[in-house]
Parts: sequence; C-alpha cells; structure tokens
Amino acid sequence: MKRVLPGATIGLLGGGQLGRMFTIAARKMGYRVHTYEPTPDSPSGQISDVEINRPYTDLDALRAFAQNVEVVTYEFENIPVTALDALEDRVMLRPGRNVLHTTQNRRREKEFLSKAGYPVAPFRVVDSAESLAAAVAELGVPCVLKTADFGYDGRGQQKIREIPDAAAAAFYWGKHGAPTGVLEKWITFEAELSAIVARTWRGESSVFPIGINTHENHILATTLVPAPLPPEVTARAAEIARAIAQSFDLVGLLAVEFFLTSDGELLVNELAPRPHNSGHFSFDACVTSQFGQQLRAVCGLPLGDSRLLSPVIMRNLLGDLWARGNPDWPALLAVPGLKLHLYGKSEPRPGRKMGHYTILAESAERAQELDRRAQKVLLG
Ligand SMILES: Nc1ncnc2c1ncn2[C@@H]1O[C@H](COP(=O)(O)OP(=O)(O)O)[C@@H](O)[C@H]1O
Ligand SMILES: [Mg+2]
Repeated sequence: MKRVLPGATIGLLGGGQLGRMFTIAARKMGYRVHTYEPTPDSPSGQISDVEINRPYTDLDALRAFAQNVEVVTYEFENIPVTALDALEDRVMLRPGRNVLHTTQNRRREKEFLSKAGYPVAPFRVVDSAESLAAAVAELGVPCVLKTADFGYDGRGQQKIREIPDAAAAAFYWGKHGAPTGVLEKWITFEAELSAIVARTWRGESSVFPIGINTHENHILATTLVPAPLPPEVTARAAEIARAIAQSFDLVGLLAVEFFLTSDGELLVNELAPRPHNSGHFSFDACVTSQFGQQLRAVCGLPLGDSRLLSPVIMRNLLGDLWARGNPDWPALLAVPGLKLHLYGKSEPRPGRKMGHYTILAESAERAQELDRRAQKVLLG
C-alpha cells in the first residue's frame, strides 16, 4: 500500500521545530501525528495527537509506535540505524534507511558525493592527531575539522588557521571524544545557497525556489528568496539536488547546501534528508511549503506547487535574544509583512533556535530593509 490518505496516522521520529511545522501541515490536511521523541514536551509533541517519550534504543517502544501508524518519517538525522531497522520491516519508512545512514555521517556523506562525481570542498578523513597533522599539511590552512557524527549548527567544528600544534589537535579529540573526523579546506565563498527537493516514489520531483543563506557563528541567520544570483547558478543547484535525490531513490525531502565560489563553481557542502531551516520561508511564501511537500511525498500523493508567492526574508531567532528577558513581540509584530513563528521551547539557551520570522515584501530589497527595522526592534 503506497498511499496514505487524510485521516490516517503518521509517525514522526524527532520532536523539534521541523517536526512541529510538519505536524501543523499534516493536521491541516486532517492527518493524525504520533511523535516519537526522547525528551518530553517537545515542539512537535506539544501539538501532536500522541507524543511517545522513549529513547531511540528502546526497540520495543519503537515497534509499538510502528503498529499505530501507517507511515513513518523523520525530522532529525541522528537516529540510530538500529531504530530504523526495527521499524523498516513493520511500517513504511520514508525517506528510507539508506539515505539517512549516508547523510548522518559526514565521512560517508562526503565519500558518497565525491565518488558520485559531485563537486565538494577538498577534504581528508582523519582519525588521530597524526593523521590530522598530515592532512593539514596536505590541504593547507585555513581549514576546518568537523566530527563525522552528530554535528549540527557548527557544533563539533574547529577552524584551523595555522598549522596546528599537537595541543590543538589533542584538544579537539579530547573535547569531542570523536574517533573520526573530516578535515575540509576552508572555502572563501561568494555566497551560500541551498536547494530543497521533494521526490515521490514515482520519481516525480520538485525543487523549491532557491534562497541565499547567511550564517553567524556557523548557524544559519537568514535566507533571502529569490536569491540575487544568476539564473544559471540556481538552475544548476536545482539540477544537482534532483540528481542526488534520484541517486538515493529518495521518497520525501532532501536539502542540499552549497558554497558558490568566486569562479562561479558550486560545491556541495551538506545534505539533509528532511525539511531544512533554509526552507522555512516556504511556510509563508510558497503555494506549498516544504512541510506540505514532505507530507505529500511520504504519503504517496502528488507533489504541490512550490512556486514563490512573494519575495521573502527569513531570520532565525536564537536564545541569545532572551538574555534581557522576552523580546518585544508587539513592536516586532508592528513591522509590515512580518510573520512570527515560535517553537514552544521554554528554555532560551544561547545558540538555540527558538523561532524565526519571515517578512514578505514587494521586492527582496524591501524585505531586507524591513528586516533591518525588525533587527533594530530586537537588538535595540
Ligand atoms: N569548508 C568550509 N569553508 C568555509 N566555510 C565553511 C566550511 N565548512 C563550514 N563552513 C561554514 O560553517 C557553516 C556550518 O557548517 P556545515 O558543514 O554546514 O555544518 P552544520 O552541520 O553545522 O550545518 C557553513 O554553512 C559555512 O558557513
Ligand atoms: Mg550546514
């Protein structure tokens, strides 16, 4: 049975904001959602029909979860594959185990991409202070060391500006206790962009309008759409995203992050087989959002129209903004065209994604201008 129709129950692994927005999309279309998430009162769990708070290692709980849902999808990469194996022979898992296994580990992801011939930043796999020193000597500085497992929002990354002494390397390995890492050459890029592609089991695919991303402290800060880039660059990004999705026989969403170099070359930075922070603009600014598209793809329905309805900027709201108490929401909401999204997280830690806003305006320039106004409200 390939199709899951409205009224059915969907299982969601992971209870973060991506799951919350997926759940909103699913409930809008009359589906029920069961969220499986270790930590109670999760952003998605808060608004799901059922929230199951068990660890991903509890295979009995996972099997019970599978029994009550018709399809399982995920919003989080770091789910142990043993959990997926326990689910896969009981219930449809979309996207499948393979794409998650490859993309949840930076080494496997990079090796997959370079073997398949996609352009990536020069890299070396390292697993000791000695191999790190050798790799730094080969690639040159600056470069960046990233853990193979469990990295996100720049966590588990260390930039190396000078040939490191043993102490810097030892610090890294000691701090993360990570046996394997990927050392990448530092790319001085013109821009960062991402392409989010949805694909169905029939092989139909659709790419969202491409945005240009800015990061602060390695964490996404803004996405601007349409990207002020030559159309051949965005077309090429879309084509690469479609090709990667096809090579995984993906059913669901895949986000592909790129660096655009000064020679106009696109390098693939990262993959994620789920909705992506850089696609949040679509929730307000496209005919079908990335969450609505994920829903359609995993339920075996026709994909929706991903057309952009309005130029838009998206900005993340990190926990740092709460340092002096709650931000001035009424003043923020007075900014024309602004839509506020908060994820229901009670603890605003620095660097934690608490919410985002989008500003829809008649042009990308105008959206940026209004964003500066919104920033003044938030930062004083
Ligand atoms: N090789 C690199 N050269 C230049 N900037 C980089 C490089 N790797 C990462 N960065 C910067 O750090 C950000 C986060 O790194 P990324 O590899 O995407 O990890 P994460 O999983 O934390 O998103 C990137 O979006 C980019 O701004
Ligand atoms: Mg990234």
